Amino acid sequence: MKKHVVLLPGDGIGKEVINSAKDVLHAIAEEFNHEFSFETHEIGGAAIDQYGTPLPESTVEACGQADAVLLGAVGGPKWDNNPSHLRPERGLLGIRKALDLYANLRPIKGFKNLLHASPLKEEVVSGSDLLIVRELTGGLYFGTPSERRDNGQSVVDTLSYTRKEIERIVDKAFQAAQQRRGHLTSVDKANVLESSKLWREIVEEKKAQYPDVTVEHALVDSTAMKLITNPTQFDVIVTENMFGDILSDEASVLTGSLGMLPSASLREDGVGLYEPVHGSAPDIAGKGIANPVAMILSTALMLRYSFELEAEAKLIEDAVQSVLDSGFHTSDLQISNGRLVGTAEMTKHIVDYIKTQNASKC
Ligand code: NAD
Ligand code: IPM
Ligand code: MN
Repeated sequence: MKKHVVLLPGDGIGKEVINSAKDVLHAIAEEFNHEFSFETHEIGGAAIDQYGTPLPESTVEACGQADAVLLGAVGGPKWDNNPSHLRPERGLLGIRKALDLYANLRPIKGFKNLLHASPLKEEVVSGSDLLIVRELTGGLYFGTPSERRDNGQSVVDTLSYTRKEIERIVDKAFQAAQQRRGHLTSVDKANVLESSKLWREIVEEKKAQYPDVTVEHALVDSTAMKLITNPTQFDVIVTENMFGDILSDEASVLTGSLGMLPSASLREDGVGLYEPVHGSAPDIAGKGIANPVAMILSTALMLRYSFELEAEAKLIEDAVQSVLDSGFHTSDLQISNGRLVGTAEMTKHIVDYIKTQNASKC
């Protein structure tokens, strides 16, 4: 299979973990006789420095023509005081919107051997396996903020959703639940927000189309609590953009580290952008210690969702599992008697597993 992948390293550890994705894809290409071609483009702070904008037109064009996009992370203190339109994060929001990537899938599964890496009790974390379906191109992130008023002391952000925007993400979540354990929790703030009331109505209407899925509505505040006190009650969670952003970082605690969570941002036709849930981690950038697992698992999601290469995706996931089972881990995972390694070595172990495991099948 021939596929063209655009790489957007971005900033901070994004630049480091994107190399891990590339190494893994080279190994997969070699083992399964695929041809992956790569093209690297700038986004975020790196693009601001080079082109004066967080999302150059050339980047949007290249992504539009690619079979899939892999993104590291954007942002960093260097650009924190820039005006809003010149912040790295604008580049990320811009590419999501430009490609209409409205469905952000964030799977969260505790690895067996890492249960003790979570600060939560093992018996709480054990068996947790959930998917957050986050709406990605609407809500507060895409409202038009007002100018500062009252001498700069007042400002308005708007949270708006159309029926169509809610329907398509809710459909996606119902379909995901059908492929999993058949339970959907729709998370909102319908006791306060009008947008949440419409969201709830639409979920209620839709459920007749998916009789094999059980549905529950939950408020976002108590859901935040239940996610870390009784996570096994969740299968698929569907929620609006900002709630999904916050809940997914919280849920990463189940896995032991934010450095473990991958994500897929999709639209209908299979084109997707794949990126870790974490950010550019300025506190550890440049040290070679970032956990590459979130990026590598995002690469597996790309193979599964955009290229329909299930065996290849599964091999990557097995490789991660096996390397973690052998005790190898980066410093973000609090493991007492494991084997502490950096980004490059962790990646190498994963790549080696892919090569030897596949060779042993021939
Ligand atoms: P962050 O996710 O970058 O880091 C939070 C904490 O988790 C840090 O202590 C960091 O060291 C650690 N961490 C994150 N990923 C890790 C990994 N792979 N390995 C080891 N440790 C890891 O969040 P933040 O510090 O709040 O934000 C930093 C910058 O990143 C900001 O500019 C923010 O806007 C940006 N950001 C970008 C994305 C993205 O590009 N998708 C996502 C989140 C935050
Ligand atoms: C994420 C990030 C982004 C978001 C930021 C960097 C704009 O936190 O991908 O989770 O809020 O969507
Ligand atoms: Mn986030």
